[in-house]
Amino acid sequence: MKISCLSLCLLSTMCWLYSTPTTGNKIFQFGPCMISMNVNEIRASFTAIKATIQAKDAIRTISILSYPYSLHNFNSANRCCIIHHLLRFYVDKVFKHCETEDSHVNRKISSIANSFLSVKKKFRQCNEQNVCNCGEEAIEKYKQILSNYGQLNTTSAAMKSLGELDILLDWMEKAH
Ligand SMILES: *[C@@H]1O[C@H](CO)[C@@H](O)[C@H](O)[C@H]1NC(C)=O
Repeated sequence: MKISCLSLCLLSTMCWLYSTPTTGNKIFQFGPCMISMNVNEIRASFTAIKATIQAKDAIRTISILSYPYSLHNFNSANRCCIIHHLLRFYVDKVFKHCETEDSHVNRKISSIANSFLSVKKKFRQCNEQNVCNCGEEAIEKYKQILSNYGQLNTTSAAMKSLGELDILLDWMEKAH
């Protein structure tokens, strides 16, 4: 009896281990916060609409996330700070203002928005106990992002920020 229970436990652990990569949830550490996120699902939705979104973006001289320099390797506390701000930025300033005439594209956008919303909630829960300490570097970078966003009208700024989502995802995964 004991043996069969043990093997059952082993089996379920193995199943769990094997199923983790396919469900796509990855754990990211941002300062004190460990956040699980289905980054593959977000990427898949984004990839499906990227060309449509970027084709609508006529203003090539500005980047929201990468001007005047790219998101770089901040230390752990600053990573936490930046990601916390950018989650709020995307939820409050970007997805709300992104709409196209294409309902398929709109559905993908709301699926990405829902994923961000759930990550943002996890972050808020973490922040109730552990606040990320924002360094000057992170605050400065976020100010620049807001200032780039402010150069365009709400719709253009939102669509451009959406089109740059892969910059954010790459940055999260690279530093991971
Ligand atoms: C926003 O800016 C874009 C590009 O300059 C322009 O095509 C669009 O009509 C503007 N929208 C509004 C609501 O002003």
